Amino acid sequence: QAFFKPIQNTAPPSPTKRHTKIAVVGVGNVGMAIAQTILTQDLADELALIDAKPDKLRGEMLDLQHAAAFLPRTKISASVDYSVAAGSDLCIVTAGARQIAGESRLNLLQRNVALFRIIVPALARHAPDSMLLIVSNPVDVLTYVAWKLSGFPSNRVVGAGTNLDSSRFRFLIADHLDVNAQDVQAYIVGEHGDSSVALWSSISVGGVPILSFLEKQQIAYEKETLEKIHKEVVDCAYEVISLKGYTSWAIGYSVASLARTLLRDQRRIHPVSVLARGFFGIEGGDVFLSLPAQLGRGGVMGVTNVHMTDEEAERLRGSARAILEVQGQLDL
Ligand code: NAD
Ligand code: LAC
Repeated sequence: QAFFKPIQNTAPPSPTKRHTKIAVVGVGNVGMAIAQTILTQDLADELALIDAKPDKLRGEMLDLQHAAAFLPRTKISASVDYSVAAGSDLCIVTAGARQIAGESRLNLLQRNVALFRIIVPALARHAPDSMLLIVSNPVDVLTYVAWKLSGFPSNRVVGAGTNLDSSRFRFLIADHLDVNAQDVQAYIVGEHGDSSVALWSSISVGGVPILSFLEKQQIAYEKETLEKIHKEVVDCAYEVISLKGYTSWAIGYSVASLARTLLRDQRRIHPVSVLARGFFGIEGGDVFLSLPAQLGRGGVMGVTNVHMTDEEAERLRGSARAILEVQGQLDL
């Protein structure tokens, strides 16, 4: 009961929109960048933070709560106990080890699978109807692990995948052509990592398909230049990590944009890690990797028939084989 009543009520409060709750597991660099973007973009009515370090967790919760006067109204709670996630519509997992300079994402696998054995069943127990959005690396294999450990249908388990790589790709192309990155349609698919695949044949800028435009105008382009841009996409996470120790802001915006599409049923198409077996000739087992997928309130609604050359499709299947090989080391 409040000790002071500042408003003379004339009617009981009536909810005007659906109540939305997001849980974020892991309040490190990535979890906090996501939390703060979710708050500034008004994506949830409730935000629950979970971590294994109680002091860090309470400190981060208080620091965010102290911004209440400048933000849309969101109830923020935090606990080391997963019951705080009860009723969540979306659970975002960022907990776990991150790369040190020069280390590959795949190297984190064993350490992070051990954490997922604790985290995922606890989320599934307390938020059984939620969607899981996996961010911890190696994200594709861990999305598969989360799917297995949760028992959720595959449409409710998504990995942040190459949504971030595709944004880096669009930035580099836009920078090169001096246009706005939002006008560049371009996808990186496959593994979020070293074996990712750039779909050059489907790139368009303001509706102009780049490769066929260059071919029609008989403008020579160097395949090497295209390869160099893709290589820059693959290398740039390593560069940021060697410079500042971790990546955070871009993944914060990337995940907030996924949260908006999922929770607001926006049905936008994002390159994210989904169960990919059967698409584009991918065989050999259940594997999660990024394909352009339509997302909505129920999670993954479908995968687009994006145009791929034979070479691009073969590279995609190669990326699937690379992930499956790593997955083969797991005993779930
Ligand atoms: P960080 O070290 O800053 O934070 C990790 C957090 O996880 C810590 O606060 C730690 O206490 C917490 N944690 C550890 N064990 C836990 C447990 N059992 N339960 C709950 N919390 C636990 O690391 P970071 O920079 O935030 O990176 C987090 C992860 O995100 C890494 O695996 C990193 O590689 C990954 N990442 C993924 C992408 C992507 O595009 N998918 C982008 C950036 C980072
Ligand atoms: C990224 C992380 C490290 O920023 O996966 O790409």
